Amino acid sequence: MDIRRARSAAELAAAEGLFDGPARPEWCERFLAASGHLMLIAYVDGVPAGMVSGVEMTHPDKGTEMCLYELSVAEAYRRRGIGRALTLALAEEAEARGCHGMWVGVDTDNEAALATYASAGAEDEGLFSMRGWPLRDDA
Ligand SMILES: CC(C)(COP(=O)(O)OP(=O)(O)OC[C@H]1O[C@@H](n2cnc3c(N)ncnc32)[C@H](O)[C@@H]1OP(=O)(O)O)[C@@H](O)C(=O)NCCC(=O)NCCS
Repeated sequence: MDIRRARSAAELAAAEGLFDGPARPEWCERFLAASGHLMLIAYVDGVPAGMVSGVEMTHPDKGTEMCLYELSVAEAYRRRGIGRALTLALAEEAEARGCHGMWVGVDTDNEAALATYASAGAEDEGLFSMRGWPLRDDA
């Protein structure tokens, strides 16, 4: 397995089977151009088998932290350590960028994700409730 940072829209498009929906060219370009946004893709024999995305967040009193935005491993490649390896690779990248920590929000019934993050050293920081403001219907 080889983990590499996505640098082009073509790499993102080739990995879209790992996303919840199709990759749109304009959003790929915006993602790649956005400071503090990154995606690491795990390749097995050249095939995109998993991905993790991260977004750096900075606040005046908190410094910079990494939010693990999405983690996904294709079903055929699960339970081989790829999700754990991607999570650790993002944490390593966050540390290299000077982030003071990394966090992720997880559904409390997502046993695979909870096990993966625990396996990658995450601490349980408690439950929180999420609220949203849908602003457009094309997302
Ligand atoms: C969560 C996900 C990324 C895990 O990927 P994976 O490559 O199968 O995970 P790994 O093989 O690296 O497993 C890491 C650890 O979690 C455990 N684990 C993985 N899947 C599990 C499951 N379904 N039930 C229980 N434990 C599980 C493994 O046993 C391993 O534990 P260990 O290190 O103590 O041996 C994958 O199941 C997935 O893509 N799920 C759908 C998307 C998703 O829910 N993403 C997370 C959003 S927050």
